Amino acid sequence: MTLNNLKIEAEKAIDKASDLKALNDVFKQYLGKKGELTQILRSLEKLPKAKRVKVGKQANELKKFFEEKIKEKKSSFAEAPEDKEEWIDVTAPGRRPVLGHLHPLTLVKRKAEEIFENMGFSVVEGPEMETEWYNFDALNIPKDHPARDLWDTLYLKNGLLLRAHTSPVQIRYVEKNNPPLRIIVPGRVFRYEATDASHEVNFYQIEGLMVGRDISAANFKAIIQEFFRRFFGKPVDIRVRPSYFPFVEPGFEVDMKGEKGWLEMMGAGMVHPNVLKNAGLIPKNWQGFAFGMGMDRLAMMKYKINDIRLFYSGDLRFLKQF
Ligand code: FA5
Repeated sequence: MTLNNLKIEAEKAIDKASDLKALNDVFKQYLGKKGELTQILRSLEKLPKAKRVKVGKQANELKKFFEEKIKEKKSSFAEAPEDKEEWIDVTAPGRRPVLGHLHPLTLVKRKAEEIFENMGFSVVEGPEMETEWYNFDALNIPKDHPARDLWDTLYLKNGLLLRAHTSPVQIRYVEKNNPPLRIIVPGRVFRYEATDASHEVNFYQIEGLMVGRDISAANFKAIIQEFFRRFFGKPVDIRVRPSYFPFVEPGFEVDMKGEKGWLEMMGAGMVHPNVLKNAGLIPKNWQGFAFGMGMDRLAMMKYKINDIRLFYSGDLRFLKQF
């Protein structure tokens, strides 16, 4: 075959090759170890010198020409799939991002805040790291009083402690705000105690405080009953029984009837005159009620959860149900 014919034939084959494999085959056929052009180049040495120079030059030029052409074709294949990937269908619907959802305790906190705000309460916060004064002394619990043992407290090396309840915010708020007032204080509290199905070392409370000229225990009962009715969407059975907290007089506890009997939901009472005094008020001018409700317990009742520890387990099988 003349070099000319070879050129025509090989050029056609390169043009025809529709994928990388076909192109490789063409390469092999002409430029491979046993390729047609390779063989011609090899046989050059047998030719007389004058012819060898002439044919050699042509054959080498042809080899270069093919190599270029094959390279060109190869790059056209390489571009194709990329083009395809970058092609955008602007009419296609967007991919929906996977949205997270709120933790059941957050849902309960928001719902409780909404209900109390609708009843005229402001939502207030306080520090989780507290002084002994706000956590105990100002709440009428002197240093060596046995009442301090009611709260298993976590003391910090810096002289502060992790608040055992949200009650210290009562003092902090009244110091800076004049009555009449009504607030709730949702927040995290800490206790050094053994855990079980209804006790955690870290849990949440919602403190409530309402102070005015003639706020009574009857007001407390009405408000808390209305809160429960709105929170659970139906009237619920509660019972108020006498109890003791140094910062109230009289003091009570409120239980709620659940599927497994009564569950203690909160401590409460009429704010003790010493507490009003420690917060800067003249006790004979003011009176009111306070309560400290277990937010986890509220969530347990609402969602029928039988173990408080589930809230903090991070178990997705549990969390995904909300
Ligand atoms: C107090 O913490 C008082 N500060 C409540 C109070 C406020 C009384 C204002 C009077 C006036 P107590 O320790 O009982 O009280 O806790 C209040 C509520 O928090 C309990 O009724 C319960 O619902 C919840 N609770 C208490 N300990 C735990 C715990 N370890 N895990 C989960 N919830 C708890």
